[in-house]
Amino acid sequence: MIYQIPWIYTPARTVLAIWHQLTKTPIPELANCSVLMRERSRVEETIHAIQRAGAGSLQVIADFDMTLTRFAHNGKRVPTTHNTLDSQLLINEDCTRKMRKLLSIYYPIEIDASLSVEEKLPLMVEWWTKVHELLIQQRIRKDMLAQAVKESSAMLRDGYKVFFERLAEQQVPLLIFSAGVGDVLEEVIRQNHVFHPNVHIVSNYMDFDQTGVLQAFKGQLIHTFNKREGALSHAAGLRELQGRPNVLLLGDSLGDLTMADGVAEPQNVLTIGFLNDQVEERKESYVNSFDIVLVKDETMDVPNAILRHITS
Ligand code: TMP
Ligand code: MG
Repeated sequence: MIYQIPWIYTPARTVLAIWHQLTKTPIPELANCSVLMRERSRVEETIHAIQRAGAGSLQVIADFDMTLTRFAHNGKRVPTTHNTLDSQLLINEDCTRKMRKLLSIYYPIEIDASLSVEEKLPLMVEWWTKVHELLIQQRIRKDMLAQAVKESSAMLRDGYKVFFERLAEQQVPLLIFSAGVGDVLEEVIRQNHVFHPNVHIVSNYMDFDQTGVLQAFKGQLIHTFNKREGALSHAAGLRELQGRPNVLLLGDSLGDLTMADGVAEPQNVLTIGFLNDQVEERKESYVNSFDIVLVKDETMDVPNAILRHITS
C-alpha cells in the first residue's frame, strides 16, 4: 500500500499561499484604498527581513518637500521650502512675481510623465539656478528666516510627530535628503519640535556673509534628478549611517529613488512613493518603480505602521 504524503501532492502555488499566510505581515494599513503595490509578497518579505534584523540595522532616508511635508491642505497647496521664501519679509514683489512665473513653467516639466529624466535634467538645473540667483539678489537676512517660516503655511504630514519620535527613540538615523533649501527645512522641523539628534540633512544650504546677508548657495547644487550624486558624495560619508544595510526610503519623485545609492552593500530596501499630483498619468510608472505607492495620502499612517511593525 502506498501512503500519500499530502504536501508532496499540494500544488506549488498552494504551498506558496500557505507560506505567505504564515509570514503575513500584520499591517492593516497596507489594505487602505490609497495603497498600491506591484508585488505585495515582496513588500511583506522585505518588511519581515528588516524586522528580523532589528532597528540597529535600519536607516530611513526621506525626501522633504511633498514627502515629509503635505502636498495640500484645505484645497490649497502647501509651500515647499523654496516657496516658503516667497514672503514679504524676505523678497520684494518683483521677485515674488518672477519666482511664481518660474514655478508655473518648470514644475509642470518636473512632473511631466511624457518627458524622460534626460530631457528634464538641464531644465531643472535652469530652474534652480534662476531661483537661487533671484534669491541672492534679494539680500535675504538670515535673522528673518525663522519669522518667515513662522508666518508661512509650511506643514508636515499628519502623523509626523509619531514618525520622528519613534525613529529618535529607537536611535534609527533619519537622513532628510532635499533639493529644497536646507536652512528653511531645518527651521520647519525645529519649529515643529522634531529636530532630534538622529536627524541628518543633505540639502542646498545658504551661504551668508559676515553681516548675515545671503551671498551664495553652498556646494554642489541639488535638484530633483541629481540626488544620486549627492548620495555618493555626501550621504555615503555620514558615519551615523554606516553599518545599517536596511533602508526605508520615502519620496514623492522618481528622482528620489536614487537617494539610497550611497548605502554601502544594501540588503533590504523598501521604497515608498507619495503620488500627490498627476495621478492617472504617473500611476503606472510609480507602481513600477516604488514598492509601495500612496495615492493622495496626506498622512504618515503607512510609514508609521511599517515602522511600528519593524521596530516592535
Ligand atoms: P525636495 O527634494 O525636498 O522635494 O525639494 C524639491 C522640490 O522643490 C521640487 O519638487 C520642486 C520644488 N521647488 C519649488 O517648489 N520651487 C522652486 O523655486 C524650486 C527651485 C523647486
Ligand atoms: Mg519632494
